[in-house]
Amino acid sequence: MHSVSHSLKRMGKKIGLVPTMGYLHEGHLSLIKKSLELCDVTVASIFVNPSQFGPSEDYEKYPRDIERDNKLLKEQNVDYLFTPSADEIYPSGYQTYVEVNEISKKFEGEFRPNHFKGVTTIVSILFNCIQPDYAFFGQKDAQQAAVIKQMVNDLKYDIDIRVCPIIREYDGLAMSSRNVYLSPEERTKALFIHKALLYARKLIEGKETSPQTVVDNMRVIFNEEKSIKLDYIGIVNAYGFREVDLLEDGNEYYILVAARVGNTRLIDNELMRLQ
Ligand code: PAF
Repeated sequence: MHSVSHSLKRMGKKIGLVPTMGYLHEGHLSLIKKSLELCDVTVASIFVNPSQFGPSEDYEKYPRDIERDNKLLKEQNVDYLFTPSADEIYPSGYQTYVEVNEISKKFEGEFRPNHFKGVTTIVSILFNCIQPDYAFFGQKDAQQAAVIKQMVNDLKYDIDIRVCPIIREYDGLAMSSRNVYLSPEERTKALFIHKALLYARKLIEGKETSPQTVVDNMRVIFNEEKSIKLDYIGIVNAYGFREVDLLEDGNEYYILVAARVGNTRLIDNELMRLQ
């Protein structure tokens, strides 16, 4: 990968990286399309990164279908697919980790300790292997994107991080490789998450300025559906991922939800730009 990227750089090519864990869906393909549009060469990576899964999480059972992914990427005219093995990335004796403090500790960080440490470590390794000019991430993992932006800023990576909008199924369910875990019944229940986010959007568009009031109203929606176990609802400013006391015009906020439907943990969010 180093020799490929060195020769591309010598030719003055702009490299776009779309890092993924595979089992690609329209969300991933939207990142690929953006990279193809902005960059001369697009590299997709597929690596199910063990260091970002907790001991009781779904690393072993995470869905994988490299042949299908390969075919999809070829159809999109992706230039390179980088699929290292876990042993190549973390050979025995591996001991270096990249950790972003503060912003990694809340929300996802509270429920998935060490998750972001695994993410920033692998993203850092991928950046070093591929040397991209641009890297594309999905807004569905809004906190991940914020953590990566913080890392890029702090460690002075010369990489333009682009965050692309959430892609949803026809009925509003945010696309995720983990949606395959949902039974038809659970999938219907999972729609409550987007419903609650749209309700929050409506309240804020109706000039509700108290995040607490918005969150309380969202909780009422979830109370109707006892089989959904909420991990958190939060409203943060889109830049520093900090909770706020007041929603103000001229600012951008994420409304965040994480919930478990059956054994599947889902996250979703809505980006609000207040005029
Ligand atoms: O969002 C993902 O799929 C992963 O967290 C990433 C960024 C590919 C790192 O493993």
